[in-house]
Amino acid sequence: MEMQERVVAAFEAAYGRRPGVVTRAPGRLEILGNHTDYNEGTVLSVAVDRATWVSAGLSGTRECRLLDAVSGSRRGFRVDAVEARPRPGDWVNYVKGLVVELGRRGVAVPGFDLVLGSTVPLSAGMSSSAALEMSVLLALLRLAGRDLDWREMARVGQACENDYVGARTGLLDQFSSLRGQAGHLVYSDFRSLEVAAVPLPAGTALVVANSMVRHTLTGEYNERREACEEAVRLLQADGMAVRALRDVTPACLEAAAGRLPPRVYRRARHVVGEIARVEAGVAALREGRLRDFGRLLNESHESSIANFENSCPELDALVALGRSLPGALGARLSGGGFGGITVHLVEADQAAAYAEALQRQYRTRTGQAAETMVCTAAEGAGVMAS
Ligand code: GLA
Repeated sequence: MEMQERVVAAFEAAYGRRPGVVTRAPGRLEILGNHTDYNEGTVLSVAVDRATWVSAGLSGTRECRLLDAVSGSRRGFRVDAVEARPRPGDWVNYVKGLVVELGRRGVAVPGFDLVLGSTVPLSAGMSSSAALEMSVLLALLRLAGRDLDWREMARVGQACENDYVGARTGLLDQFSSLRGQAGHLVYSDFRSLEVAAVPLPAGTALVVANSMVRHTLTGEYNERREACEEAVRLLQADGMAVRALRDVTPACLEAAAGRLPPRVYRRARHVVGEIARVEAGVAALREGRLRDFGRLLNESHESSIANFENSCPELDALVALGRSLPGALGARLSGGGFGGITVHLVEADQAAAYAEALQRQYRTRTGQAAETMVCTAAEGAGVMAS
């Protein structure tokens, strides 16, 4: 049974009536532009054909009941008694966080019953949490009879991550989930907050490898963000008129290199280089220079290893193996890093064989299991039925 039918059937079985609304929000892959979003930079990402579906209806009381159709896990809370800062570590916090954040924006969420079901791998770097937030948020808005601008919806999701999970993440995951278009990459500018659709080059496919190293985006992620902020402070003190790393060109950074602590310099070098690579990547795609685009993906990963230190041996092994396979165009880690997934741009007619060989050879070489999948660029989040 498809996940959409599954969450509807589970709703009927659990609550004895039909849901009032059914929503879907996809996970995402970061294609190029690593840790640039919170530096007001640009990113190329894609919404994928893995998503979280939600079926929901008014409960008629203050009580809310929640069920995860995949794990069978159940939760409940009173919609008018949600703690402003619930203790992190429980999936229900994302939902509670949404209720609180909506309340702050003048949207009173009525009591509801809800079922969710997801096909996005958890804690892998494919934004399972943004998919959950955006699908539940769409459902809650519908039940409350309210609308929010999509950028505000993204901010509500980000506030959940920042305040209820403790990761100081940017807006990339929510933007990608909301603005994806079938067959297209999403080009996001996190200064102007504008997005544009960039066609995925014809004849290519995206292969994803899950290293099964679960990443958590609290400690290391926040430390990287602080290093970026420190770089900006130090460059300002050095006389540079910059507001964010977005304003720093690679040449300016090199000129100031000797006056920055080496660690801070390397973190900034990654971000500044990534923003330049995104812009070069957009030009390469526009001009049909696919090999150049793939090379930029490879360079991004090398910079993660050397400068940002957000890779790990498992991700490096997957990237190296992938690059040696027929049909390879480019490969890199995708998302926060420190585990999670790698993304591989592959010639479409080789994609299935590539995914199979990557999984098999990774096991032979390392003795460890990795899951591979071919992903397509899907439509962004939306209400499927109401
Ligand atoms: C995570 C965060 C995003 C972004 C990426 C790295 O996915 O949630 O905001 O910072 O890492 O680019």
